[in-house]
Amino acid sequence: MCGIVGVLGQHEVSPIILDALKRLEYRGYDSAGIATVNQGKLDRRRAVGKLINLSDTLVHQPLPGRSGIGHTRWATHGGPSVDNAHPHQAGRVAVVHNGIIENFRALREELAEQGAQFTSQTDTETIVQLASHYLDQGMAPVQAARATLKRLDGAFALAFLFEGEEDLIICARRGSPLCIGHGEDEMYLGSDAIALSELTDRITYLEEGDWAILTRNGVHVFDADDHQTARPMTRINAAQARVDKSGHRHFMAKEMAEQPGVLKAAMEVYSGVDHGGIDLPEGLDFAAADRLIMVACGTAHYACQVAKYWFEQFAGLPVELDIASEFRYRAPVLGQKNMALFVSQSGETADTLAALRHVRGHVAQVLAVVNVPTSSIAREADVVLPIHAGPEIGVASTKAFTAQLQVLALLALKAGFARGHLSEDAYRTRLEELRAAPGFVAQALDREDEIRRLTEHLARARDVLFLGRGVMYPLALEGALKLKEISYIHAEAYAAGELKHGPIALIDKDLPVIVFAPHDALFEKTVSNMQEVMARQGQVLLISDAKGLAEAGEVPFRLQMPTVPDLIAPIVYAVPAQLIAYHTALHRGTDVDQPRNLAKSVTVE
Ligand code: F6R
Repeated sequence: MCGIVGVLGQHEVSPIILDALKRLEYRGYDSAGIATVNQGKLDRRRAVGKLINLSDTLVHQPLPGRSGIGHTRWATHGGPSVDNAHPHQAGRVAVVHNGIIENFRALREELAEQGAQFTSQTDTETIVQLASHYLDQGMAPVQAARATLKRLDGAFALAFLFEGEEDLIICARRGSPLCIGHGEDEMYLGSDAIALSELTDRITYLEEGDWAILTRNGVHVFDADDHQTARPMTRINAAQARVDKSGHRHFMAKEMAEQPGVLKAAMEVYSGVDHGGIDLPEGLDFAAADRLIMVACGTAHYACQVAKYWFEQFAGLPVELDIASEFRYRAPVLGQKNMALFVSQSGETADTLAALRHVRGHVAQVLAVVNVPTSSIAREADVVLPIHAGPEIGVASTKAFTAQLQVLALLALKAGFARGHLSEDAYRTRLEELRAAPGFVAQALDREDEIRRLTEHLARARDVLFLGRGVMYPLALEGALKLKEISYIHAEAYAAGELKHGPIALIDKDLPVIVFAPHDALFEKTVSNMQEVMARQGQVLLISDAKGLAEAGEVPFRLQMPTVPDLIAPIVYAVPAQLIAYHTALHRGTDVDQPRNLAKSVTVE
């Protein structure tokens, strides 16, 4: 999604802002721009496409100035064009904005009636026209910004820059994150701390509803009721926040390779080796719960889908699962003994956050499994379980998925023990199995060369089908999602038993069918479904362990995974799902880290 940067500096800010915007590229965007104030005058440059285009524009038309704001835009209202790119400017004010202004149509009509000339199709331009209108009425910049903010409905983060004001940025957070960076006689603004990681490690996170006045001397923060308020300054781990590929060709490759280390480190946090049990935050009460409601989007939702099997099997806890964008629009029945669990890598996904707000006060406890501990979802939950995966930059989620699975498995085991559903022995055995996951994930990663070869024919396919049963069904869904999003090949996933109820009509000699089937209790059944595909000349790739491959007989393509306990199979089989998508995308030459149309953190509904 869109990214915001602001700098009140001691030097020329355009290159600094451009550099910070590069660190936000991972969020996904299709145009970018910068505005500065130089010798009192407001000016801007904007370009469609990647930042290199903005950088070229700046070479030919430099943008001097020591104060400025910048933006990467992911189109919502109006397509990617120079006119729609931010910063927007009207008269003496420029604005960059993330999120959506819900009442923009009414505001636009009102302003147009008063003579405002709109030059874009965006909702953002109403903000800047409104602020300009207030300035024209004689308001000072701070007053005009405040008056403008009061008229806006929706979820957003934004920043104003004013003509004639070289030491002033006004910013606001309502629904979309925003943080302030503290420098030496310089101040910064970013939609996430990663943007500012090369500039400072001293960060103040704005709270929901806050707005702030930045000058080179510091920041004054006001809450939603306009009371001046103090927000703490925290030191971020600059090494953690730093964004580099560490010698890998893509962030996705780096993040896949990091998985054994990430899983091991997170396991240490929740259950050190000499510990024997699972340490979870205080206040979790699974014994009293009568139902678990899990809500998430995309890959995080598939992690929940796997976990549903675990909570049912290990804890005997009824689970309800939904996609966040559907959940709150279907009158879900909530009860005071329900626990609600929200899973999100970014912790900022608008639909998941809205679903969390929808249940608050109507359930016993709100839990969040997140990667970004400072995120909105983390802040608004009663109990937070960080997955400790470190920044995930590749748009396709990889290490966050396996780390989410690990934390969800820990939760399910703990719930099983707390509810008396798992004996102490079984609890400890399963925990030891989970402890072995990082080693098996490393072994799965070692199959990369083989996977690369297997994907040569996949790269030529028009459609690909993924099949699995039990916990391998959500894995099939995840495999299809990964392939779609980075290789642009149409892929679908089915529970293998469902095939004959319709999708089998698709099978012919040109359709690659990828089957996830470790040798578990459902293996025979999955293999029967696979035979039905092969009888119709479907090009099967069977991913299984040594025993499974030996029993399956002749299969066109096969990939051997290590033999692993059932509990950790979804974590280990996530690796081939990721590597298949990655290498297919490489063969096709697509942009792996920033696939078209996608945003890393989806902060609009
Ligand atoms: C897929 C992917 C998305 C996200 C989804 C939820 O690779 O990354 O499907 O999983 O947008 O995002 P978070 O987890 O940040 O809520």
